[in-house]
Amino acid sequence: MPDANLAATVHHSGGNYPVVAGWGITDTLGSRLKALGVKSPAYIITDSNVMNPHGRRVQRALEQADIAAHCFIIPAGEPSKSFELAQAVYQWLVGLKAERGQAIIAVGGGVVGDLAGFVAATFLRGVPFIQVPTSMAAMVDASIGGKVAINLPQGKNLVGAFYQPKGVFADVQTLSTLGRRELAEGWAEAIKHGFILDASLVDLFEEHAEALMKVEPEIATEVIRRSMAIKADIVSQDERETLDIRILLNYGHTIGHALEACTEYGRFLHGEGVSIGMMGAARIAQELGMLSPEVVERQRRLLERFGLPVRAEGVTVEQVLRPMSLDKKVQGGANRWVLLEGVGKAVVRRDVPRELVAETVQELAR
Ligand SMILES: NC(=O)c1ccc[n+]([C@@H]2O[C@H](COP(=O)([O-])OP(=O)(O)OC[C@H]3O[C@@H](n4cnc5c(N)ncnc54)[C@H](O)[C@@H]3O)[C@@H](O)[C@H]2O)c1
Repeated sequence: MPDANLAATVHHSGGNYPVVAGWGITDTLGSRLKALGVKSPAYIITDSNVMNPHGRRVQRALEQADIAAHCFIIPAGEPSKSFELAQAVYQWLVGLKAERGQAIIAVGGGVVGDLAGFVAATFLRGVPFIQVPTSMAAMVDASIGGKVAINLPQGKNLVGAFYQPKGVFADVQTLSTLGRRELAEGWAEAIKHGFILDASLVDLFEEHAEALMKVEPEIATEVIRRSMAIKADIVSQDERETLDIRILLNYGHTIGHALEACTEYGRFLHGEGVSIGMMGAARIAQELGMLSPEVVERQRRLLERFGLPVRAEGVTVEQVLRPMSLDKKVQGGANRWVLLEGVGKAVVRRDVPRELVAETVQELAR
């Protein structure tokens, strides 16, 4: 029987995997993972905010399906995506005599997913990996597509791999324990998906903004499934980011990343940087004659309804342009800009004049 909670199937060079989202599906995880061949014992990696109640609930669900699950709890936060933590997890696995056929299950946000995935990709040259995302960013973005990584002191995600999970299982109910600001920044990524590829998703956001901020079960689940399907479709077409397809997900990220970096990751949450970056990219597209002012305004109004910032008062042009030149998406010295031609229509441009970028940052900073 088809799974009513199936959002998408990701196809990749080594096979395919289901992306599932539903309200309260944690309690069904045991049988779902068994169906994917997960054996006892399994190894849950989670963080100090997520363990209670979500990690514990996943552990119970597995135990009900006769899968014993050990838990490793990392400190919540980006600094945990480190070699030190990866090494601590390797040692824990060795101590438990973990074997190659036994699965690692990431239960948490993107930090847990990236670290656990990195360990799964490398421990014993690769063990089965399952994603159980609990933050919005992890559900609609980080858990899908197989990018796993840890950070170096010199920069984020500098060491990693493409390592696809066996399945992604998002229980939308877990979002109810996120703070309002974290929720809004997560929705920014999903709104971005609409603007780049799916105009009808943007309509849904406009119709249900308040209900989505309250994580009302039916509409929140539908929007998350749609947003996951967009990411799944993109990564299925461009698994390793060799075409100009996967990069479309970077809409708003060129300025967004630079804003995060130049404020030392202390002022803006990632999704907030993306929100401001989307406004910067929209202005650039408008100045290049690609995008109407009405769409720019529509995007601004929607982001503001989710309480997201659309300006970055006080930053200087030099501060923002410097990290931009170090962006991983730079090719042959030119930034690749994802710009809109309309709602749901994104393209990549390599010819955005530096002066226009500087002017745009100036405008955002006023
Ligand atoms: N692999 C990819 O393709 C990809 C894509 C985008 C982002 N990322 C990575 O993901 C990370 C950002 O993800 P994130 O925003 O989820 O960060 P995160 O994992 O740090 O989670 C944000 C915060 O929310 C908490 N949290 C998570 N779920 C919760 C819940 N249900 N209730 C209460 N608190 C909860 C976490 O403990 C943390 O404090 C970055 O490291 C980024 O590089 C990876």
